[in-house]
Amino acid sequence: MTRVFSGIKPTGHLTLGNYLGAMRRWVTVDQHRADALFCVVDLHALTVDHDPARVRRLSRQGATLLLAAGLDPQRCTVFVQSHVDEHARLSYLLECVATDGEMRRMIQYKEKSRREQERGGSVRLSLLTYPALMAADILAYRTDEVPVGEDQTQHVELARDLAVRFNQRYGHTFTVPRAIRPEVAARVMNLQDPVSKMGKSEDSGPGIVYLLDEPDVVRKKVMRAVTDSGQDVVYDRRERPGLANLLEILAACRGEEPERLSGEYGSYGALKKDTAEAVVEVLRPLQERHRELCADPGYLEGVLRAGAERASGMARPTVDAAYRAIGLLPA
Ligand code: AMP
Ligand code: TRP
Repeated sequence: MTRVFSGIKPTGHLTLGNYLGAMRRWVTVDQHRADALFCVVDLHALTVDHDPARVRRLSRQGATLLLAAGLDPQRCTVFVQSHVDEHARLSYLLECVATDGEMRRMIQYKEKSRREQERGGSVRLSLLTYPALMAADILAYRTDEVPVGEDQTQHVELARDLAVRFNQRYGHTFTVPRAIRPEVAARVMNLQDPVSKMGKSEDSGPGIVYLLDEPDVVRKKVMRAVTDSGQDVVYDRRERPGLANLLEILAACRGEEPERLSGEYGSYGALKKDTAEAVVEVLRPLQERHRELCADPGYLEGVLRAGAERASGMARPTVDAAYRAIGLLPA
């Protein structure tokens, strides 16, 4: 059976981008067709300035939202990264296979480290080595497919390269994974700045739809989305990014094609209104289930405990094999 692994960082409140770009596919497709693991990757949240209490809160909330979105612990494994030691254990070996140059080439590292320096802050070493940990997340489970948004393609490519290199040098140990992207909304853009990704860790709230935003807040944000100065509704990602983003969001919510939808609208106002309602409807069941789950914290704890146990059992043999293959003395 195909093995699927994906993860989400508890660095901020989850957004519509996370949902349309990644989580929705996990719920509707991946958990049904594959042996799938979904992970709140809390160790990755420590790569940037963080507040311990906030990371703890966001990890719990992230896991709750994965279940609220429809991941079913009977069908897939939901767990928290730091509960399974194998991730950190394997990450070190992969740092010994990766090179400094290939880490520094990662776009996300370049962008985030520049932003940090501009703010006068310091760049954590773990931000540079992050892709080795992400590769460990993937390779520890002999993962075949990694369903992620477009921004993660480069990191998954690196995980592939490390798997191939390790296997060539030390003997076949890892499955070589590949990234899977959604056809529509692989990159949901910020509503106020449609050339930037709708990212949960940025501060510009008005352009970001959070999964737990009240319906009226969602409506306001969508209605105020920045569009272009044109009059007609056409789908052109390059020339009309604001409009294209709305069309993609609406298409993703309705399961349609953005090009086809553009033909149905004569004005921006009508498009925004329908997009706002479509998003509200997509979020409604998720928010209801989130409320129910919050009323029973013991349930989540049980799910995460069982998930970590199952995940450890899957990862340990592979990570042990990697330790032996690379030349470490068996304990
Ligand atoms: P992160 O928020 O970085 O932990 O990302 C978790 C998952 O959501 C990854 O698969 C990302 O590729 C995806 N994702 C995050 N933001 C967006 C976005 N704006 N559009 C599409 N996918 C996204
Ligand atoms: N780096 C991913 C992100 O920022 C999160 C992540 C960590 C991940 N480990 C992973 C995604 C393994 C897929 C597989 O979105």
